[in-house]
Amino acid sequence: MKHRVLFVCLGNICRSPSAEAVLRHQARQQGLSVDVDSAGTGNWHVGQPPDARAIAAAAARGIDMHSLRARQVCVADFTRFTHMFAMDQSNLADLMAMCPEGGIMPTLFLGPATHTPPGEVPDPYYGGAQGFEHMLDLIEAAASGFLQTLN
Ligand code: 4NP
Repeated sequence: MKHRVLFVCLGNICRSPSAEAVLRHQARQQGLSVDVDSAGTGNWHVGQPPDARAIAAAAARGIDMHSLRARQVCVADFTRFTHMFAMDQSNLADLMAMCPEGGIMPTLFLGPATHTPPGEVPDPYYGGAQGFEHMLDLIEAAASGFLQTLN
């Protein structure tokens, strides 16, 4: 069965589109066929491209995010995807509250030993460029670990 992965954060302009682009990039490099998408729990940025700082940070690592556009997560996503990964505890709680019967259970993307608070990718939106680098470091490591579980 083909793996279909959805990443979810708050705005869908920083963390989850970065995770989408990184996982797609790594899967391609490894010759793995994985469908990847991302969405936000909030609707403020629907239709917008990722944050310019996220695009720049990814581009510096050879990853293109230009064509991505934000959308809001919906109930149908819980039956369309095989994996749904939340970027922080608050995203996870919002997803749990939406999850229909028979839908897939969302989980945190990062393992509990990663970062503080445990398992969270910190929101870089209100910080500087360093936050986007840290975000990508965490996402790249987790994406690589996730792909290993598929092999
Ligand atoms: P993201 O970051 O959830 O990683 O996309 C944010 C982007 C925008 C806002 C919050 C977080 N905002 O409040 O507009």
